[in-house]
Amino acid sequence: MNKIRRFLLNIKRLNQNIPIQNIKSFSTPQVSASVLRLDTLHTIISGNKWYKLKFYIQEAQQQEASTLASFGGPYSNHLVALAFAAKQYGFKSIGYVRSNENEPLTPTLEEAVRYGMELKRIGRTQFQNIKEELMHQNIFHQDDHSKIYWIDEGGYGALGAKGAATILDSIHSNENTNSITPEMIRIPFTHIIAAVGTGTMLAGLIQSAASYQQVIGIPVLRNEGTIENEIKALLESSYNNNNNNTNNSSRSNSSSRSRSSYRNSSSSSNSNNDDDESNYNSHQKQFTLLHDFHLGGYAKTTPAQIKFMNQFWEAEKIPTDIVYTGKVFMAVDQLIKNNYFPANSNLLIVHSGGLQGNRSLPLGTLNF
Ligand SMILES: Cc1ncc(COP(=O)(O)O)c(C=O)c1O
Repeated sequence: MNKIRRFLLNIKRLNQNIPIQNIKSFSTPQVSASVLRLDTLHTIISGNKWYKLKFYIQEAQQQEASTLASFGGPYSNHLVALAFAAKQYGFKSIGYVRSNENEPLTPTLEEAVRYGMELKRIGRTQFQNIKEELMHQNIFHQDDHSKIYWIDEGGYGALGAKGAATILDSIHSNENTNSITPEMIRIPFTHIIAAVGTGTMLAGLIQSAASYQQVIGIPVLRNEGTIENEIKALLESSYNNNNNNTNNSSRSNSSSRSRSSYRNSSSSSNSNNDDDESNYNSHQKQFTLLHDFHLGGYAKTTPAQIKFMNQFWEAEKIPTDIVYTGKVFMAVDQLIKNNYFPANSNLLIVHSGGLQGNRSLPLGTLNF
């Protein structure tokens, strides 16, 4: 069996066995809470990564690209996952990094290089402009003039959201539940809760949640002014793609545009086509973003968070990371204590992985 088939079978097998674990320490007479352990999916493409990447990879194969290229910071889990997936699928990979040539490589970037990724460090000030420019061009690989397939930072885009929309499928196919009874799984989850970085995962969850389920996002960055529109733009883009199957060449449709162009396209479509917009709005699903839990911004942490993560580990044996899931579980803990959820709520929290992020902490900070 070749490497690619083995990798795919592996992912497929794991996909059907994602545990849902009851969180005893969160449960009250009014509220029960469980976690979908996507962190157990794969050691490297852990959490939401595989879901966000899979349709991009499929499209790159269809377009016969030879190289996958994307963007990220020096601690980007996305670049590591992309480098690994590219290697498994026989693509070259290029990572454009928001850092300077003279800075030492982080363990994250070293790992990406180990999986064969070519790094291009393009600095911080011009990063956004260079990214916008590259994403809008058809560029060919310098060495062999073969085609490069571009993926936006963090996998942002309609194809990423389309993949994330399959996350909840694992609940329906899941028979191997861990510490949760068949009776509990039949009780519908009333709330789906997840971390928000680019918003791609949440857009997928919003698309696939049932109408009676409330989707709540916990942004881990200070992005109150922009993230809601970016998620709405993804939903709009997915809606338009689903309703406009005449154009399958998605390099020219909205699925591969970068973030700022989503914003532009959403405002221009609003002004140009009122019918389309009202059509989209009538299908728009509600979601809630709770902005009080980012602890100061991306990758910022506090002693209280570290204490919470250690206590949560001791109580539930669920490891969390400082950037994403540590903030989400801490938020839910506080929300339950503040009686945010109505009686009979049954919460499903998505554990989206990211545990590699803890490598930047001094040894001994965490008990796991
Ligand atoms: C572990 C983890 N959780 C959550 C997120 C947030 O996902 P998104 O960027 O799709 O909002 C990310 C970023 O990709 C992540 O690495």
